[in-house]
Amino acid sequence: MPQDSATAASGPGEESAFLLACRRRPVPHTPVWFMRQAGRSLPEYREARAGIPMLEACARPDLVVEITMQPVRRYAVDAAIFFSDIVVPLKAIGIDLDIKPGVGPVIADPVRDAAAVDRLRPLEPGDVAFATEAVQALTGELGGTPLIGFAGGPFTLASYLIEGGPSKTHDRTKAMMYGEPELWARLLDRLADIAAAYLKVQVEAGARAIQLFDSWVGGVGPEDYRTSVLPHSRKIFEALAPYDVPRIHFGVGTGELLGLMGEAGADVVGVDWRVPLDEAVLRVGPGKALQGNLDPAILFAPWDVIADRTRDVLARGRTAEGHVFNLGHGVLPTTDPDKLARLVDLVHEESAR
Ligand code: CP3
Repeated sequence: MPQDSATAASGPGEESAFLLACRRRPVPHTPVWFMRQAGRSLPEYREARAGIPMLEACARPDLVVEITMQPVRRYAVDAAIFFSDIVVPLKAIGIDLDIKPGVGPVIADPVRDAAAVDRLRPLEPGDVAFATEAVQALTGELGGTPLIGFAGGPFTLASYLIEGGPSKTHDRTKAMMYGEPELWARLLDRLADIAAAYLKVQVEAGARAIQLFDSWVGGVGPEDYRTSVLPHSRKIFEALAPYDVPRIHFGVGTGELLGLMGEAGADVVGVDWRVPLDEAVLRVGPGKALQGNLDPAILFAPWDVIADRTRDVLARGRTAEGHVFNLGHGVLPTTDPDKLARLVDLVHEESAR
């Protein structure tokens, strides 16, 4: 059932700063959350995950709830992100894959021809019943803090499937995109349907915003993005439109694509640290909020440097119609959690009205 997330509260009678910023409405303070806020930087995460493979953890609602809550207990973040992975829905439709520690997703039989593409079946809600259960439990635990659901974007999922694992150059992926455009479109269309179905499951269970992570699409130039990726991302965002939850779109190294990523149908465009937010405002144009964009590596510098850079991000973010503070990519595993706690407090203090 579509829900009205604009009325989501962060406390009695109080609207969530995160949802307000996504909707480009006035905020009590700049909201902040971190990509990968749950994960190896937290000792309690390492303890909860000890001896449990990543994909097994993702399928256990009790663990998903615990791990999603860990950063919310530790930091005064304005949103939680569902603990899962972009390959979870692929595993759920029967693809033989694993997440190897320190490597990432590895696919047993890479998808490289029409027969393999045609074997990718649609995702049914029953395939991810564990996700429904976990999100429902989380919405209760979280109270007024909104939960962000997520899925992998079509280029990034296609790259893992075609390459068979992580790739820096995405050569086979791009070979299909350039050389077999019809097969490519069929693959991305199926991945878009799977991502949309996974996102709907999360929203129907109580997620109040969604983020589409097309992390590796920054390797594609704007014209190819427009013809070969954007139509599929648009299909995902359009499928979510009736739910009226904010839709965030993020990728790494996407400075040249920011406008197009907004055009695809995002309400909020995520920006990595390579483009200053005031410049990103110009690239994205009116009618969008921005999310970002402190370099995650800045957290290894002395505190006064972190504080100066944070103030700079906030100042540039004020030129946007709405700003959700985040890092330019995920929290690095060796980050000191106390620095993140201090960073959240600084963002709130500096931006409070
Ligand atoms: O806190 C959060 O942000 C929520 C959890 C989350 C995970 N994966 C958990 C995870 C999210 C949002 C993701 C998305 C994801 N997964 C992306 C897009 C985001 C991005 O970083 O750009 C991508 C590209 C993947 C694929 C993937 N899964 C990679 C590259 C890795 C890291 C491999 C490694 O060990 O370095 C994973 C595994 C993974 N997903 C971990 C976590 C916490 C590490 C597993 C572990 O702790 O052993």
